[in-house]
Amino acid sequence: MDWGRCYRQGDTPWEKGEPHPELPFLLERYRELFAKSDRLLIPGCGFGHDAALIAGTAGGEIEGLDIAKEAVMEAKEKYPMENISWQCGDLFEWSEGKEGAYDLVWEHTCFSAIPPETRLNYAVAMASLIRQNGYLLGVFFPNPDHPAEDGPPFHVSVAELHQLFDKDFLLEWSAEPSKTYESRQGRGRELSMLWQRK
Ligand SMILES: C[S@@+](CC[C@H](N)C(=O)[O-])C[C@H]1O[C@@H](n2cnc3c(N)ncnc32)[C@H](O)[C@@H]1O
Repeated sequence: MDWGRCYRQGDTPWEKGEPHPELPFLLERYRELFAKSDRLLIPGCGFGHDAALIAGTAGGEIEGLDIAKEAVMEAKEKYPMENISWQCGDLFEWSEGKEGAYDLVWEHTCFSAIPPETRLNYAVAMASLIRQNGYLLGVFFPNPDHPAEDGPPFHVSVAELHQLFDKDFLLEWSAEPSKTYESRQGRGRELSMLWQRK
């Protein structure tokens, strides 16, 4: 998938111009967790709406990471905030030299965007990047109406999420978001999850 080309051509159906509608609730529910995190990573940050909202609550340094330089440039221009550094890079190579560097990772439509055969690499990268007792918080995409082969976004079952993450993470909490974008409403497509690194 050529993400840069999608951004250049404006072929970005995921781009809603605002943070995930459930994020304010999660920021409130996990206020202390965000406040106490010194270093946060947001992989596949796109235009950075989530990162910018998180930056208002989080106490530490936030890194918005995206493989597409077009997305990073737009995020940088839109949200030139002091506590966010915008990074262009591949998540799968990001952990080199950064083992245990992050207290918290925010996941939203990065996992569902990557090819399903690379999911184990994603789980390995998360386990490497997040420190012991750190957290992976995110909105995942079980999306039962959307066949796996017909992505991105790619469907994932809850059972597969457990297969991928149970080795290094403990599921602390999960719930269907009470708010989401209009185009994703009413179909049980999303699941908020908080995983703690063992
Ligand atoms: C579906 S978009 C979601 C963007 C953003 N999270 C949002 O909701 O607006 C997926 C994003 O992940 C980025 N991406 C895909 N593979 C990546 C990788 N291996 N490393 C870093 N970013 C990646 C793409 O460039 C794209 O911006």
